[in-house]
Amino acid sequence: MTAPAEARMGNQIARQFAHLPADEAADAVARHIESFWDPRMRRTLQALVAAHDQSLDPVLVAAAGRLAGPRATRRPPTVTPPTVELHVHLEGTLEPATIFAAARANDLPTPAASVEELAARYEFEDLQSFLDIYYANLVVMRTAEDFYAMTERYLLRAHAANVRRAELFLDPQTHLENGIDLAVVMKGVTAAMAAHPEVSTGLIACFLRHLGPEAAVAAYEALEPHRASLLGIGLDSSEVGFPNRDFAEVFERAGADGLHRVAHAGEEGGPDNIIDSLDLLGVERIDHGVRCLEDPHLVARLVRDRVPLTVCPQSNVRLRVVDHMRDHPLGRMLDLGLLVSVHSDDPAYFGGYVDDNYRAVTEDLGLTRTDLRRLADNSVESAFVGSEERAELHAAVEAWFDAEEHALRP
Ligand code: HPA
Ligand code: ZN
Repeated sequence: MTAPAEARMGNQIARQFAHLPADEAADAVARHIESFWDPRMRRTLQALVAAHDQSLDPVLVAAAGRLAGPRATRRPPTVTPPTVELHVHLEGTLEPATIFAAARANDLPTPAASVEELAARYEFEDLQSFLDIYYANLVVMRTAEDFYAMTERYLLRAHAANVRRAELFLDPQTHLENGIDLAVVMKGVTAAMAAHPEVSTGLIACFLRHLGPEAAVAAYEALEPHRASLLGIGLDSSEVGFPNRDFAEVFERAGADGLHRVAHAGEEGGPDNIIDSLDLLGVERIDHGVRCLEDPHLVARLVRDRVPLTVCPQSNVRLRVVDHMRDHPLGRMLDLGLLVSVHSDDPAYFGGYVDDNYRAVTEDLGLTRTDLRRLADNSVESAFVGSEERAELHAAVEAWFDAEEHALRP
């Protein structure tokens, strides 16, 4: 007999939070169910729990217990306001357990003896030491199902984190280098995006700087049949030694084709790489950009022109762009009037999804509610959406802060 849909869906949601301690995972699953399941589905789940259905994940059972109890026994809601995730690499959302599952499904060697051993290697010196492991892990990705599962897992997790829209980075060249047809990659990714309309999505194909400008043009041409699925193009991978100015040709072509343009710059590279990205690549957003602070003229320009900077605090700490979260310049960037917002980059590697990043900056940088609201509104302001969707997203941020205000009143 097949399990009821509520058991299958609930178990799937529970698995998304498997990396959290059990009580936090149960809270997260309860919040998800409370937000997205209709009363009939919730009643079915409670009936399964009452019948001691053995197919239910223990975390799902604990979550059901929280939903059945009085409100006061539950933890306060997530600190994350509705937000737009603009800097997340789909490949960076592959958790160690998912990498092992894909390796086994595809009859390939696992990248380490155990999931724990793989995760223990995630201690990085700098960007390159991370990229070496990150690219090596991706050889397990072979089928459209693998790409579907990766994308779906992220969207479920993002939804639970209050992400209302996600503009997702994908590295097509990594998969081309691994001998995978782009049609396979795009089929899996776009099918998962279509299956989860609860998060509005767009896809940004990034080119790998370390493979050089000609390879970027070739990959852009290989993407031609999938152009309609793309929101834009980006530039990522190693920054030092591979300047953005070299990639002007592919950016010019994409601009002429009506695609949005973004680029990683000013993460490990200096302010010049940000200036070149604006002047020579015509980018509309800078990914990271924290090193703009070394050039006051550039800061003034970014403030004046309202250029979005998609900052990833936990990534910056783990890749040693800053020493500690308490040293992160996000607060200073807000005070300077920069259009900064908070994102997760490669959450499976850097210790957290976007809600974890919001929590970290709230706790370690002492940001105020006004700062948080600006971060959320800035993420909406920086999104590639039409005026109607932008207005809806701003309204969701406003409603969330208004509701919080009421909840805080005695
Ligand atoms: N920087 C550059 N390239 C990347 C990153 C990053 O943080 N994550 C995945 N590719
Ligand atoms: Zn990135």
